[in-house]
Amino acid sequence: MGYNVEKIRRDFPILQKLIKGRPVIYFDNACQSLRPVQVIEKINQYYNDFPACGERSHHKLGKQVDSAVAESRKTLRKFFNAKNDKEVVFTKNTTEALNLVINGLGLKQGDSVMSSDKEHNSNLLPLQFLSKKGVNYKQFEFGNIDDFQEKLDKETKLVSVVHVSNMDGTVNPVKEIIKIAHDNGSLVLLDGAQSAPHKEINFKKLGCDFFAASGHKMLGPSGTGVLLAKEKLLEQLNPLIVGGSTVNETTYTTYEFEEIPHRFEAGLQNYAGIMGLAEAARYLERTGLKRIEKHEQNLNRIATEGLKDKVDILGPEDAEKRSGIFSFNIKKMGPHDIAIIMDQGANIMMRSGAHCDHSWFNAHNMSGSARASFYLYNTEEEIRAFIKEINKIKKHLG
Ligand code: ALA
Repeated sequence: MGYNVEKIRRDFPILQKLIKGRPVIYFDNACQSLRPVQVIEKINQYYNDFPACGERSHHKLGKQVDSAVAESRKTLRKFFNAKNDKEVVFTKNTTEALNLVINGLGLKQGDSVMSSDKEHNSNLLPLQFLSKKGVNYKQFEFGNIDDFQEKLDKETKLVSVVHVSNMDGTVNPVKEIIKIAHDNGSLVLLDGAQSAPHKEINFKKLGCDFFAASGHKMLGPSGTGVLLAKEKLLEQLNPLIVGGSTVNETTYTTYEFEEIPHRFEAGLQNYAGIMGLAEAARYLERTGLKRIEKHEQNLNRIATEGLKDKVDILGPEDAEKRSGIFSFNIKKMGPHDIAIIMDQGANIMMRSGAHCDHSWFNAHNMSGSARASFYLYNTEEEIRAFIKEINKIKKHLG
């Protein structure tokens, strides 16, 4: 069966509503996606049917929570094709997952870490903080394998890079990066916040050591995320937060860690969120990531064709190289003004500013951009409305 965007749209309650008498055109998917009714129902199921603690209470409701979380972990393991359920750690977002790995490896003075020069603050800052402790932090130019190879050395213990840029949708050549890094004996952590919602991720095949993603960008509830990590490495990683659920025994002076992955999931968890995230993964799987990716690329191609002569697009002109992200500037108008006009005039919701990539914009003497990011429920008609509104702005500016 073909890709039925109208059928998909019916699953999303917010797309059935009018705001100020108009439908919503939601192009802020790189920040957070909308949620289908299936995910919302799953969240409600927890609160309606077994709103209890996991991993500690032996009553019937507690047991239901345990089996729902275990079932969700299995779903995520299959979705990302990790080796076993132990390789799936629930976090609250990509940021937490990145911090967990970067701080948990026990890197010390004399070690080096490397990222690209186009990282989200969530990858940049933990690496900057590490460098304050004496770890050498280096950067290579995003996408430039020669530069990467040149800067990689025997001291480089970790390469922590973004998979797909949230700023312009360009894709890092991660297969080559992983191969070269591994040949050098370096571990690889991928920031998959913008790839997991839009591309098929096969953790085993990809071969990276760690992969971080957010649930709320892939139809899941806010404040959910996942870290995939090779089992052996996870055994050696220090937890970022310790407390209830991370240990199975303590005395006043000693402790015994829980098995992986539980030792990384401290305190009571977002059980409803975890269940909702698994439901989101099932929704994406049913729809098909390959088809979703193709759909988004088509939308980006139409936006690019319609606007390439009117706006300055960030990244390559070829839409296929920018995933579902259309990031741009208009001469004589700031990015926030563009976003506000689009919102007020046509309910077109997009993000503007530095997108948490201040470092890249500062290095390029730019203040930011306006960014439209597309997803599985967006339509060609919405893209045409977007083009029309930009044309109105251009006409007004003269
Ligand atoms: N990283 C998210 C974005 O790009 C918040 O909007």
